[in-house]
Amino acid sequence: MDKIVINGGKKLKGEVKVSGSKNSALPILFATLLTDEPCAIENVPSLADVNTTLAFLNFIGKRTVKSGSKVKILASGKYKHIAPYDLVRRMRASVLVMGPLLARLNKVDVSLPGGCAIGARPIDIHLEAFKKMGVKIKVEGGYVKTAAGKGLKGNKIEFRFPSVGATENILLAAALAKGKTEIVNAAREPEIVDLADMLNKMGAKISGAGSKTIVIEGVEKLRGVKHSVIPDRIEAATYLIAAAITKGKILLKNVCPEHLKAVIDKLKKCGMEIKETGKTVSAKWVNDLKPRNISTEVYPGFPTDVQAQWMALMCLLKGKSCVKENVFENRFLHVAELQRFGADLTIDGKFVNIKGVEQLSGAPVMVSDLRAGAALVLAGLAAKGRSTVSRIYHLDRGYELLERKLKKIGADIKIVRNGIK
Ligand code: UD1
Repeated sequence: MDKIVINGGKKLKGEVKVSGSKNSALPILFATLLTDEPCAIENVPSLADVNTTLAFLNFIGKRTVKSGSKVKILASGKYKHIAPYDLVRRMRASVLVMGPLLARLNKVDVSLPGGCAIGARPIDIHLEAFKKMGVKIKVEGGYVKTAAGKGLKGNKIEFRFPSVGATENILLAAALAKGKTEIVNAAREPEIVDLADMLNKMGAKISGAGSKTIVIEGVEKLRGVKHSVIPDRIEAATYLIAAAITKGKILLKNVCPEHLKAVIDKLKKCGMEIKETGKTVSAKWVNDLKPRNISTEVYPGFPTDVQAQWMALMCLLKGKSCVKENVFENRFLHVAELQRFGADLTIDGKFVNIKGVEQLSGAPVMVSDLRAGAALVLAGLAAKGRSTVSRIYHLDRGYELLERKLKKIGADIKIVRNGIK
């Protein structure tokens, strides 16, 4: 099994170029299904989830050519209306195929999603919204079978929770629907704004993205587009925490500092010296840090995707702190693994109480999901001695060139793939 081996205790120092956002790239790639014209997407990270999305597009009827961080998407044949289990099980974001295919074909059958092991993660908000747009839905043989009769119709849709995926799916569907769609209680994440910007460049009429109400006037047709994906705020936050946990100094390039505000504010409160300019953020450890509580919230709150990494940092700060997870159930699978490093953590429902320890010691640990994996790597970088992190395929889903980027700033880290260094 592939592993990461880390000899911890090195202060990380240097520059990191942040990659394009995974969570933006996936919906943007699916959005290319809305046109038959060629599309060129730039700043696309090389990750397992991106490869799955490209495999999806190829299966459905596109031809995709990836070269470095650029992807060209061309029409290839008639679209299929099926999203098979073999592709959907690899990535939960596969449900984003529903919006564009309902818009183009008026029907799509999607295998029920898999993805990270972080809670139930149902898709009821997506399905309720599609129903409001005139879609008939049944579940049969492990597939959600949907049909929109003669076409999708715009409507007012109020989400019970501002789901990121559901907001994206409805944006994708409503762009080509008949009439006006209004999403109330929409997600406000920067990835939503990126998708709306791309769709508007294709000729869509979307206003209000980034606020709680988004209005989409359906259009007949969308055209090809050239679009560059926004920087990955979660990858960036992970490296800022790497600077804090190793008492180092890291300069991040290719970032949007405003997307990182919640994490930067907390790190500053802990005592990190952080400076933001146009597209860079520098983080410097100057003195012992103080622990700070976090409570995950939808954007612009503290991101759930940084909760595990934050917890790793708190494990080493003198004093008590508390982490509250509000977005997902069961997103504490990293707690038991952090305890293997010697961390003092107790789960109490939605809370984890943390007592900082003087030192973590290297340990063999196992990754349960993508961001838990990042937390374990961070703990390994700070721990005394050798750590081996296994099941790293989760990390391949979300961190481009993780080993190379960490090595460049001084980490003693190597990936052992199937026993080969
Ligand atoms: C996206 C991100 C993920 C991030 C999450 C929250 C991608 C590819 N993934 O995931 O990294 O952690 O946003 O910021 O962009 N829910 C329902 N019913 C639904 C949909 C969601 O109950 O129909 C619940 C989920 O179980 C979860 C919460 O709502 O508890 C948030 O989910 P959602 O915002 O939809 O996250 P994703 O789009 O799956």
